[in-house]
Amino acid sequence: MVKICCIGAGYVGGPTMAVIALKCPEIEVAVVDIAAPRINAWNSEQLPIYEPGLDDVVKQCRGKNLFFSTDVERHVCEADIVFVSVNTPTKTRGLGAGKAADLTYWESAARMIADVSKSSKIVVEKSTVPVKTAEAIEKILTHNSKGINFQILSNPEFLAEGTAIDDLFKPDRVLIGGRETPEGAKAVKALKDVYAHWVPEDRIICTNLWSAELSKLAANAFLAQRISSVNSMSALCEATGADVTQVSHAVGKDTRIGSKFLNASVGFGGSCFQKDILNLVYICECNGLPEVAHYWKQVILMNDYQKTRFVNRVVASMFNTVSNKKIAILGFAFKKDTGDTRETPAIDVCKGLLGDKAQLSIYDPQVSEDQIRKDLSMNKFDWDHPAHLQPSSPTAIKQLSVVWDAYEATKDAHAVCLLTEWDEFRNLDYQRIFDNMQKPAFIFDGRNVMDAEKLRSIGFIVYSIGKPLDAWLKDMPAVA
Ligand code: NAI
Repeated sequence: MVKICCIGAGYVGGPTMAVIALKCPEIEVAVVDIAAPRINAWNSEQLPIYEPGLDDVVKQCRGKNLFFSTDVERHVCEADIVFVSVNTPTKTRGLGAGKAADLTYWESAARMIADVSKSSKIVVEKSTVPVKTAEAIEKILTHNSKGINFQILSNPEFLAEGTAIDDLFKPDRVLIGGRETPEGAKAVKALKDVYAHWVPEDRIICTNLWSAELSKLAANAFLAQRISSVNSMSALCEATGADVTQVSHAVGKDTRIGSKFLNASVGFGGSCFQKDILNLVYICECNGLPEVAHYWKQVILMNDYQKTRFVNRVVASMFNTVSNKKIAILGFAFKKDTGDTRETPAIDVCKGLLGDKAQLSIYDPQVSEDQIRKDLSMNKFDWDHPAHLQPSSPTAIKQLSVVWDAYEATKDAHAVCLLTEWDEFRNLDYQRIFDNMQKPAFIFDGRNVMDAEKLRSIGFIVYSIGKPLDAWLKDMPAVA
């Protein structure tokens, strides 16, 4: 029986290993983590992450060929294939701070693998890492390995949160990078055989190590770049009277461009896009390519601009001050169908409004009060560290309440900001919401999911990103 161990029981490690266990009943899969509360949750009825379809998969295999454990060393020692899916945050200090990937957790995992191993192993990079990380990991493993053979593979993960299980069941592609040596090819084949249980062979792409590592950074940069491109157009649409939905529809109909990832919004979020692009920028700078670095940096700057522009629009529309005004925030997760708040645009929007002394009332169907308070009190980049290293007690923010109902959040509010496109927000009783709000009542739709005409007929002043502006908003121009 082949044994697999995955270090890191997070958004990637948990779902990917659960699907491998489901599709390969003859393989024993252990997912290990240093965070005991996370492992306890994986072993309970309340999994630590919300992901449609995940409960079902875990229930089918847990205790049979899927195990969650804090006994990291034992499971690593017993495994034939070790996946490493630990955090790779942006460095906050020292060389490359604010850009380079912090490989502390990766390095400590690699050293531990070298220490505890008694047999040959394939070590798989599942985390997103800078190009050439495999080389560094190889050095750590071989210099400590007591003659044991380690083969390093790069197998970056392309799942998207919210659709992770579907993505894992039917991936567009699986990418495996390995050394171009007979031992490297053998290791690639071993991992390919695992995926071949359910992924068609023509969807499994094998490359050299560096191409696989770079492809993940490139894919995230391309995806984020589409969002920043359409968001840049949204600003121009507002200035000219064009409608960004019509523009992106017309543009996306070109089969060379395609329609996906062309929705204008308050900005992209999630744990990966910003971190991976900053990392790409840093690698370009280190390789003497400042023009390339500058090009990709713009994707981040445009995203920051879009969030600032949104806050400025809210404040400017409301007579240039939101001081002591209640503003309802609908949605805090970085997108619908996940409880993940890492780098969610809601953090920057809320901080911007709090900076202008607004009173915020926040509702998200999947995000806890504790998480929201933590997010709003943490420094940039601090969130991407294992839980026990994050600040434990958030600073109290007096101007903030977190409620469990959209009607409660909007009661007596001056404005509503919709920041996550949860389906339930489309079907709220907006007449009831309007009746219970202060007047004039504003709605700022950061995801373009609301029926603006219907809301206007109720009496709301409505702002939709990249759409022709109401007369009111035209009279109160926002300066970004
Ligand atoms: P996460 O923060 O949810 O999980 C990482 C886990 O690793 C944590 O539970 C932490 O306690 C554990 N850990 C850290 N050091 C450890 C050690 N030495 N031994 C044992 N456990 C350790 O992170 P997530 O989202 O799963 O991401 C992991 C990697 O996958 C990152 O590099 C990320 O960029 C990449 N990725 C993330 C995607 C996503 O949608 N979240 C998608 C594709 C890639």
